[in-house]
Amino acid sequence: MGTARIAVVGTGYVGLTTGACLAALGHRVTCVDVDEVKVARLSAGRVDILEPGLPELVVEGLAAGRLSFVVGARAAVANAEGVFLCVPTPMGAGGGADLRAVEAVVAEVGDALPAGCAVITKSTVPVGTAERIAGLLDRDDVAVVANPEFLREGSAVADFLGPDRIVVGSADPAAARWVAGLYRDLGAPTVLTDAASAELVKYAANCFLAMKLSYVNAVAELCERLGADVAAVTEGMGHDRRIGRTFLAPGPGWGGSCLPKDTSALLRIAESVGFDFGLLSATVAENIAQRDRVIAKIAAAAGGSLAGTRIGLLGLAFKAGTNDLRDSPALSVASVLCAHGAVVTAHDPAVAEPLPGMAVVGDPYRVAERADVVVVLTEWPEFAALDWAAMAARMAGDTVVDTRNLLDPDTVLAAGLSWTGVGRPRQR
Ligand code: UGA
Repeated sequence: MGTARIAVVGTGYVGLTTGACLAALGHRVTCVDVDEVKVARLSAGRVDILEPGLPELVVEGLAAGRLSFVVGARAAVANAEGVFLCVPTPMGAGGGADLRAVEAVVAEVGDALPAGCAVITKSTVPVGTAERIAGLLDRDDVAVVANPEFLREGSAVADFLGPDRIVVGSADPAAARWVAGLYRDLGAPTVLTDAASAELVKYAANCFLAMKLSYVNAVAELCERLGADVAAVTEGMGHDRRIGRTFLAPGPGWGGSCLPKDTSALLRIAESVGFDFGLLSATVAENIAQRDRVIAKIAAAAGGSLAGTRIGLLGLAFKAGTNDLRDSPALSVASVLCAHGAVVTAHDPAVAEPLPGMAVVGDPYRVAERADVVVVLTEWPEFAALDWAAMAARMAGDTVVDTRNLLDPDTVLAAGLSWTGVGRPRQR
């Protein structure tokens, strides 16, 4: 295939990455959003989300005339061969995915789609959505294709341009092949299947990752109780190629805009067909238990009670490399600490906005000021490079709780502090 004419509806991190990367692959891409201010900023090459490489691709695409940003989906799709739906599918009231944004776009563009074009779902949508969209469109001359994304926040461009696999499913095999062809230059393994299977791949993969992390967090707890070291245990496990070395780091629990929403949605999907997915419910329950164990550890470090304790938090984002606070375990820990009467001061290199109940400061050393306990919640590498002697000099207490096993315990010890990680022997 040569150059295709593509419309991308929604310019969040999925839509913008999809649009900019498809343009980089040589396609002509029109990105649509309802937010006029955002469209104006993007048209000027200004990218507001923290995603390495994305601003450069947007600027290149604009300069090459292969990428444009517009308000108004109907005009944008009128000449398109493929229309990617990249609008949000947040968790709805019942825990399932809320499809209102997808349905609104379909209603808006339905009769403006040119004959022969493909409507492609990119956002994570419940199994059966492609079929549902086909029903809503009610057009024999338009194919609906499921093509889930597997982009991690913070490495979305690298993930898009160097994918582990491309998954494309449709009741119309020719349309599926056409969509797969858009990515041909990437040389990735491609799974061509029906729409329901493609939709399920996304949930099955994300829920498996969540399960892997809940498992590792539970193993870390076992390590603490048995006097073992989770770093050695996961290294020993990871060499087994069937397990793999990645996604084995324990932490304060998994979060972000995808895993919590997708585990919840797959539970609802399973429920809808009468399947009790006990393994997945346990995965979610274990994540809450992990958060609670972290709180208990901080309380123990503070001498048993959190009320009136001064706690300094390093990290608020759900993982390093992003400023995203959605379903952030760090934020969840922070708000429980506040609710228990702790006096919380927090710093995150990517977060400047004020947050309820706590002081957010721009200088990491200020979180140590008169702190009884300092807690690492997000694995920003710069926290490991702090001058821990200078941190210690500011603290009232002497304990660091490192929920990411990020710091070098010897450095913390040398500063006269004690170090408590997750699943590792305490150093004092
Ligand atoms: C996740 C998946 O990894 C992507 O493949 C998927 O495309 C994306 O969701 C999505 O559905 O759009 P993301 O939410 O960006 O990506 O974040 P991850 O890097 O997967 O991290 C998820 C959570 O697990 C974070 O809270 C992170 O801190 C935690 N984590 C990750 C650990 O605690 N330990 C690890 O070893 C890895």
